[in-house]
Amino acid sequence: MKRITLFASGSGSNAENIIRYFRNSNELEFPFVISNRSDAFVHERAKQLNIPSHTFKKSDFENGEVLNFLKDNNIDFIVLAGFLLKIPGNLLEAYPDRIVNIHPALLPKFGGKGMYGSHVHEAVVASGEKESGITIHYVNENYDEGQVIFQAKCAVLAGDSADDVAAKVHDLEYEHFPRVIGEIVSRI
Ligand code: GRF
Repeated sequence: MKRITLFASGSGSNAENIIRYFRNSNELEFPFVISNRSDAFVHERAKQLNIPSHTFKKSDFENGEVLNFLKDNNIDFIVLAGFLLKIPGNLLEAYPDRIVNIHPALLPKFGGKGMYGSHVHEAVVASGEKESGITIHYVNENYDEGQVIFQAKCAVLAGDSADDVAAKVHDLEYEHFPRVIGEIVSRI
């Protein structure tokens, strides 16, 4: 069994989708969810799924407290699903090529600091893009710059609002992210 943890700062709909997808898996298990916000809705979802969730402060990610917790719990792999803090060096060194993120656009476009959540979809619509999509990538020391693993596209139609694009992108996330995680983890 590979032990995976999810990091989420917000709603956690991807985290929930991933946990449900692997519920009966003999290869991957998700012993808990980690957040940097005690008020994030992901805690509610974890509770409904009977999975513990833990909140750590930003400084705990940076000072090694989170790393110790992951090591104590034999975590093999980290999935960022709507996690907004930068991943510090101690975690990157301990988990080389073992941290992945999903970004709700076609990187390298619409990535970097401040490009998260609705900001991304608003920028896509404002720039008149004809398509958007998802990017699953390894995490490195810069926001949204790690090696791309997988992309999928959706059309952005004339008249689409940022919310319309967000809905299409979320559908792609739910469809592809669990499967791609399964493929990557099967190789570690
Ligand atoms: C997703 O769109 C993901 O791509 C981005 O943050 C959003 C998280 O949504 N990184 P949710 O919390 O999983 O609903």
